[in-house]
Amino acid sequence: MNISKMPKLTLFPLTAEFNNQGHLCIGGCDIVDLAKEFGTPLYLFDESTLRHKCREFKDEFCKYYPDTLVIYAAKAFLNRALALIFKEEGLGLDVVSGGELSIAHSVDFPLDKVYFHGNNKTPEELNLALDWGVARIVVDNFYELELLNRLAKERGLSQNISLRLTPGVDPHTHQYTTTGTVESKFGFPLATGQAEEAVSQALSASNLNLLGFHFHLGSPVSEIQPYELAMEIVLRFAQEVGEKIGLNLSELNIGGGFAVPYTLHSKVPTLTDYARAITGKLNSLISGLGLNHPRLIIEPGRAIVGQAGVALYKVGAIKEIPGIKKYVCVDGGISDNIRPALYGAKYEALVANKALGAEKEMVTIAGKLCESGDILVRDITLASAHPGDIIAMPVCGAYAIPMSSHYNAMPRPAIVMVKEGRARLIRRRETYEDLIRLDT
Ligand code: LLP
Repeated sequence: MNISKMPKLTLFPLTAEFNNQGHLCIGGCDIVDLAKEFGTPLYLFDESTLRHKCREFKDEFCKYYPDTLVIYAAKAFLNRALALIFKEEGLGLDVVSGGELSIAHSVDFPLDKVYFHGNNKTPEELNLALDWGVARIVVDNFYELELLNRLAKERGLSQNISLRLTPGVDPHTHQYTTTGTVESKFGFPLATGQAEEAVSQALSASNLNLLGFHFHLGSPVSEIQPYELAMEIVLRFAQEVGEKIGLNLSELNIGGGFAVPYTLHSKVPTLTDYARAITGKLNSLISGLGLNHPRLIIEPGRAIVGQAGVALYKVGAIKEIPGIKKYVCVDGGISDNIRPALYGAKYEALVANKALGAEKEMVTIAGKLCESGDILVRDITLASAHPGDIIAMPVCGAYAIPMSSHYNAMPRPAIVMVKEGRARLIRRRETYEDLIRLDT
């Protein structure tokens, strides 16, 4: 096989390789066989990559700051199989809804490692969290502070909480996923004095035990400097309120947002870069401000599952508009991955059954949904594709399936986990029956 002619696999899971037939293999499984056995569109997760990322996060941060807790942000994608892996790997979990909490509960995830976020948790969700004994409820606003205290009082218990603060730092990412600026719907702003008021109220609440502060700047954050700036702002605030009102900060949660490369041209910090800079800044701030070492909590989502996930589609129609454009149409689209349409997200792709030999051409990969915006990848150079070929898109593990929809009454794809030559179904494909099951 002529290796120099093969497409680059750097964005794919760590186990990705080509076999002698020029087929992409992941976790020892031939993609063409997987597409035949499970159908397409198909999402696959590589177990080795998932576990590797969990360990890498723990190792890198704990190396520089031993008291670090890594909690996986479930919104990036959670189902029972993944929750079990995170449990085995000793991670905690960040959940934002009763639904995510229930998935964790269904696999006996240790709830003393579950942090509950959200800007409008309902009384039902808060009751569930109190009954199941989650580690922290990350209180987002004054309404919740009062409501949670009342619900905890009714149960006669004291709930550990942290407060979500809005430090007023721009992380330079998409406006839809920017959360740490003062006008955000999330958190207590520092600039307006509301953060200080929240600390006073939390400390005087009869059934709440305030342990720390949380911020999340946005996602993805491809620079390190916004984290450093936000830590400085929040720790200075911690020191001030500590002196004024008597709070002893025992944990600092800096959220998630760690970026991953989606294309061969993406330039993002490595995990080591993030870990070294963040923990270095934290250590110097703590000693400069004379604070006790708080526990550091980080909430990566995308950076743990992104690279482990691959989307597989089958090519159907090919439309060429002479001299203008060539569309390669696939059997999924914005119903399973809305990110290109919603955020202008860029992806790479390759024809997974044609690593070698085929001529290359510039095409646009279009989905099958009834919208012109249903384009997965614009103007990409691919091996010449024909109906029946399999397109593989890397870095699809985060925020594709969880943001999927039934638009055009598309059943959701099957998901498999691959490892050492074996593929197991971790979520079955939806059927037309499923689409009408809930209609009354
Ligand atoms: N912690 C909090 C409080 C968050 O709100 C988020 C993401 C995370 C952690 C995890 O961020 P990550 O490490 O995955 O970047 N749908 C968008 C991303 C929205 C992120 C929402 N919050 C996308 O597809 O890019």
